[in-house]
Amino acid sequence: MSRTLSAWDKAKREGRKLAMITAYDSTAARLAEAAGVDALLVGDSLGMVVGGEADTLRVSLDQMEYHTAIVAKAVSKPLVMADLPFGSFEESPAQAFAACARLLKAGAQIVKVEGGATMVETVAFLSRRAVPVCAHIGLTPQHVRQIGGFKRQGKTPEAAAQLLEDARALVDAGARLLLMEAIPSELAAEITTKLPIPTIGIGAGPGTDAQVLVLHDVLGLTPGHAPSFAKKYMDGASLITVALADFVAEVRDGTFPT
Ligand code: KIV
Repeated sequence: MSRTLSAWDKAKREGRKLAMITAYDSTAARLAEAAGVDALLVGDSLGMVVGGEADTLRVSLDQMEYHTAIVAKAVSKPLVMADLPFGSFEESPAQAFAACARLLKAGAQIVKVEGGATMVETVAFLSRRAVPVCAHIGLTPQHVRQIGGFKRQGKTPEAAAQLLEDARALVDAGARLLLMEAIPSELAAEITTKLPIPTIGIGAGPGTDAQVLVLHDVLGLTPGHAPSFAKKYMDGASLITVALADFVAEVRDGTFPT
């Protein structure tokens, strides 16, 4: 497992792939640690998979701080990354620093910031003040109402060139990791090769240094359609429903408790 950022840098140099999964509570965090994941993302996707919202925009900094604290307290080996939620950082670098300080004090080792070129100044401000930053580009779910849905990004040559330029600027500003969501595989692989920092992909093909998925997608718990790039490793929804139905039946017919 790779708890430190220097271990991530080393893994990139050695060409070792790293695995990251989202976690929002201590039970899932412990199970993921036992499974050997390299990093846990306390993602603002919690608004969707835990809160049942259509997007991540309602997630608050208080909620992120609470979930980061319970995840970070539960594990000792994986790197813990926390999302800056919508509305907690965009106004100014100083506002972003105050939000990051709360997440780092809650136990995060690195904070994820959504946005490309517009976040360069903020990333530089944070990096100069001891905040390790993972920049998140491509499909940035906090912009979903502006871009009109969860749409793949970087599809035209111009958009791809812009993403590469943004990635370079974010690295120059001090970003330690780069997460790329829902962009073409070739572009993600090119950015990974050209950048000195480790990259993490979701829906960005096999060419990134690490992969992240949302826990509920992996376990088959996501209601409705999970994103097409997410792989379901078990049918958790059926397993849980059957187990709970057995419990209900046993209570009703008096088999439980004995
Ligand atoms: O919030 C989240 O889970 C994320 C992933 C989709 C990368 O940002």
